[in-house]
Amino acid sequence: MSFMDANQLIKLSENCYWSPSDEAIVQDNITELLPVTMTKLIKFFVENHDRPISSVDIFFAIWDDYEKEYNAKNVRNLISSLRKKIPLININNYYGGRYVLKKYRDNTPDISDYLIEILDQAKNGMIITDPNISDNPIVFVNEAFTEMFGYLPEEVIGRNSRFLQGEDRDQPALDKIRAAIKEEKDITVTVRNYTKEGQLVYNELSISPIFDKKTERIKYFLGIEKNVTAIQDIIKKIKAIV
Ligand SMILES: Cc1cc2nc3c(=O)[nH]c(=O)nc-3n(C[C@H](O)[C@H](O)[C@H](O)COP(=O)(O)O)c2cc1C
Repeated sequence: MSFMDANQLIKLSENCYWSPSDEAIVQDNITELLPVTMTKLIKFFVENHDRPISSVDIFFAIWDDYEKEYNAKNVRNLISSLRKKIPLININNYYGGRYVLKKYRDNTPDISDYLIEILDQAKNGMIITDPNISDNPIVFVNEAFTEMFGYLPEEVIGRNSRFLQGEDRDQPALDKIRAAIKEEKDITVTVRNYTKEGQLVYNELSISPIFDKKTERIKYFLGIEKNVTAIQDIIKKIKAIV
């Protein structure tokens, strides 16, 4: 079941679902409409599941009257009434006054023994960095990364990923990356990178912050690297014709 399919029920907790089409809660097969503010809160959480959202963003998504002054207490109270209404709902408080609705998962298998195998057999390059170490260095790269850029893990671990840009540092996408890292938000951009041999690679890069479940602080960043050079070459050819 897709988490975002409008015609399907979304599992919020044991025995409790959200119906996007009815904008209502379904508990023990009974559909129940909730007050407007709580309905807006669940909708906003479901749309942003698994990513921390700030109390300010929640406030303005619910009380969309911009004359109104932001009030953190209103958000806290509304979230606590939602927790009372659906006791098993998994809303975590994150560092810096942010909240996240964790997607409900049935029977998650323990894949920890196979995790590296899984990452190594993925088709896209992957980089994990540690922002708690000075200059956010790489701590892991998968095999697809090595295939894409020609660097072995031992050649890149401990370095910041910016070396992939070589001398080509004047790229507008870099400002966006800096801002996303600072704000601990997801981002997808295309950057010009270079292989160990100096070959240009257009890299569609998605960066996501990974938060520690216990401390709720940033633990790692995950970067997924997709080689989009072929499509960029086609775009260049079309632009040359037009
Ligand atoms: C997880 C992660 C993966 C990254 N992967 C790449 C990459 O593949 N290519 C790249 O050019 N920059 C990548 N970056 C961005 C650079 O590390 C750096 O943040 C960017 O160049 C902007 O910052 P700077 O001005 O300090 O260089 C990645 C960053 C993170 C956090």
